[in-house]
This record gives sequence, C-alpha cells and structure tokens, in this order.
Amino acid sequence: MCKNHGVAYVKPGEVEVREIDYPKLALGDRKCHHGVILKIVSTNICGSDQHMVRGRTTAPEGLILGHEITGLVIEAGRDVEFIKEGDLVSVPFNIACGRCRNCKEGKTGICLNVNPARPGAAYGYVDMGGWVGGQSEYVMVPYADFNLLKFPDKDQAMEKIRDLTLLSDIFPTGYHGAVTAGVGPGSIVYVAGAGPVGLACAASCHLLGAAVVIVGDMIPERLAQAKSFGCETIDLRNKTPLPDAIADIVGVPEVDCAVDCVGFEAKGHGADADKEAPATVLNSVMDVTRAGGGIGIPGLYVTGDPGAVDEAAKKGSLSIRLGLGWAKSHSFHTGQCPVMKYHRQLMQAILYDKVQIAKAVNVQIISLKESVQGYKDFDGGAAKKFVIDPHGLIPN
Ligand SMILES: NC(=O)c1ccc[n+]([C@@H]2O[C@H](COP(=O)([O-])OP(=O)(O)OC[C@H]3O[C@@H](n4cnc5c(N)ncnc54)[C@H](O)[C@@H]3O)[C@@H](O)[C@H]2O)c1
Ligand SMILES: [Zn+2]
Ligand SMILES: [Zn+2]
Repeated sequence: MCKNHGVAYVKPGEVEVREIDYPKLALGDRKCHHGVILKIVSTNICGSDQHMVRGRTTAPEGLILGHEITGLVIEAGRDVEFIKEGDLVSVPFNIACGRCRNCKEGKTGICLNVNPARPGAAYGYVDMGGWVGGQSEYVMVPYADFNLLKFPDKDQAMEKIRDLTLLSDIFPTGYHGAVTAGVGPGSIVYVAGAGPVGLACAASCHLLGAAVVIVGDMIPERLAQAKSFGCETIDLRNKTPLPDAIADIVGVPEVDCAVDCVGFEAKGHGADADKEAPATVLNSVMDVTRAGGGIGIPGLYVTGDPGAVDEAAKKGSLSIRLGLGWAKSHSFHTGQCPVMKYHRQLMQAILYDKVQIAKAVNVQIISLKESVQGYKDFDGGAAKKFVIDPHGLIPN
C-alpha cells in the first residue's frame, strides 16, 4: 500500500507535514462507492486555511488541511460511471452530493447531504463535515461524477497547470464575487483585499469588462501585484478616507459595485490599519457603493471566533451599519462560492488564453516539505499564491 503524507494543523501558528492514512472510499462508516482516489498534482494554500492556522476557529489538532485540489484519478469506486482512471481533474472545494434540493438548484456550496452539522462541506476544513484535506499526496473525492471537472487534454492541461490549479477555489470565488456584485462592461469596481482572492476577483472584473478596478489593501507588495495587471490601487494605511481616495481616481467618491475579499479578520483604515476591526470592510463598501449597487461578499465571516476583538464578535456578531445599505438599496451576496457554477467556463477562458490568472495572483510552486514555510510566508503578507506540488509532477 502507498504511503501518504499531509499538512496537519498542530496549534495556532503551527502546521507540520506528517504521515497520514492512505485514503479509503469511505468517510468513517459512510461508504463512498461514488468516490475516487486522486494522486494529487497540485494543492494550494488558501487564506481560508490561515483563519484556522491563526487559531481563529475551533479547528482540532491534527486536522489535515487543504481544499484546493487538482489530481489524477488512480482508483474509481464501484458506482463511478463517467470519470475514469487516468483522468486529470479539478476538484471544487465544495463537496456536493448532486442529489439534494440545493445541489439541484446549483447551490453546491450548501449541499444538504455532506455535513451532518450544517449545510455545506469542504475538504480539510473545520465544521465542514470531517472530509480529509488534500494538502497531501493522495485524497478521496466523493460523488466523483458530479463534482469533478475533467480537463480535455492532459498534456495541454499540465502546460497550464499553474492557471488550472486555481479553478478549485480562488478563480471561481473571485469571479463569483464580481458576478454577484453585478460587475459588467464599463463597471467601476472597488475590490477590498489584495490577497489571492482579491487579485483573482480583480482579474475576473477585467474579464467581465469592468472599466476601472480599484484594489485596496495595506500591504504594498500586494498592491504592487494588483497594479502589475492594470488595477488602480489604494493603500489603506494612508490618512485619506476611502471615498476621497476613490474620487482621486474616478472623479466621484463612489463606485458601481464592490467586493469584500477580506472577511472577518479585517483591519481598520488609516491610523487603525494595524488593528483588527472586523466590520470595517462591510461598512466601507456600503459607504462607497452607489445607491442601487451590488456588493459581493466572498470574504469569510464565521459563527464563532475564539480570537475575536470583543464578546459580540466571538459569536460572529459585528457592528454593521445595515441602515446605510438599506437606505441605498444595496444588494448583498454572501457565502461559499458554488465553484461548479463557473469552473468549466473559466477553464475554457484559461485554455484559450483569455485570462492570465496565475500571473495575476503570482503563483509559486513549492514542495510538500516547503509548505510549512509557505504558510509562514503567506501569513506574513507575501504577494504570492502558494501551490504545493507533492509529487514533483509540475514542469518548470
Ligand atoms: N466565499 C468563498 O467561497 C471563499 C473562498 C476562498 C476564500 N474565501 C475567503 O476570502 C478571503 C480572502 O482570501 P485570501 O486567500 O485572499 O486571504 P488573505 O488573507 O491572503 O487576504 C486578505 C487581504 O485583506 C487585506 N485586508 C485586511 N483588512 C483590510 C481592509 N480593511 N480593507 C482591504 N483589505 C484588507 C489583508 O492585508 C490581506 O492582504 C478570506 O476570508 C477567505 O477565507 C472565501
Ligand atoms: Zn480556498
Ligand atoms: Zn447536495
């Protein structure tokens, strides 16, 4: 039997690579004859993983991380009909049964059958159903026929693997943020956050035809990365209030649409830019979005945060000025991105060179061993998207 190694959460601030079980077509007593075993080709570190690793969730010791998975099918269960051994596939980070009411409506981020605790599941994530994560050499993917996106040509896919690896999460997530904010041809957009999701969202806004994409963050290297592919940028450490900084760029202190690519670990603006202020982004996007505009919120908000700044925030209650959004008839869209809604079209955009998403988010390939350092560098604000190559299969 093959050995398997994966990245485990140890305690706040610490992950390690350890030997783990080789996957079975099961989750505990639950048989998964509809599943496949993948030999992982690429598996990315995500800002969502960092919430756990920073100790901001109730993730248990030993949780095997990783929900952004691309791999080769090496074993297919008895009930898998269409996916075959040897297929190279992208795995949506949402686990979905394809049979429940929500899946049938395309809402695969809130499948009703994959997590006894609540709607929605993911690999390697706290409260997300206990499915083993894929920052490892091998992983099991259930409901394979429904979940997996097969790349049409393996050789071509390996050439573009740095881009295609982003289909499991951040490219669809950034795109979903833009779509749900109503971005279209000629839009003027504010994207809060220049982490990988913010950068993927900014690139998606360009793909959707936005006229101006303004990205705000407080990390200069990440803002420079946004600038490198044509975004306007705002350094939120500056004293200039956000509406005025927007007016300096587009002549008016408002935008058509805004996307929160930050979430609950948001920092304040100006003099408070080094302090956590979890409602900052939600309140500031209501401030700068025009009346009638849309606000996409892919940034993660939680129901429990042991490290929150105050008692209310520990339960996920934030001080949001909803009256402002109501007065401006804003529409809001929250939740996990239903990856499957977008991944095929975004794959085609990659394969036909309509988008340079790996370049936009600055993909860096690392080994499984290097993932421990990757977590540290990412937490330190590196302007990079770290992609783990556990078997050394990715060409230079
Ligand atoms: N909805 C989904 O399906 C989904 C999928 C993937 C990731 N996410 C979430 O998206 C968020 C971003 O992910 P990421 O990988 O880019 O994380 P990240 O931590 O690398 O990026 C967040 C960025 O926000 C910046 N920031 C902090 N406060 C800010 C503020 N007030 N205004 C503007 N920028 C601010 C930080 O400096 C950082 O660069 C996370 O919350 C992650 O959990 C959601
Ligand atoms: Zn992710
Ligand atoms: Zn379902």
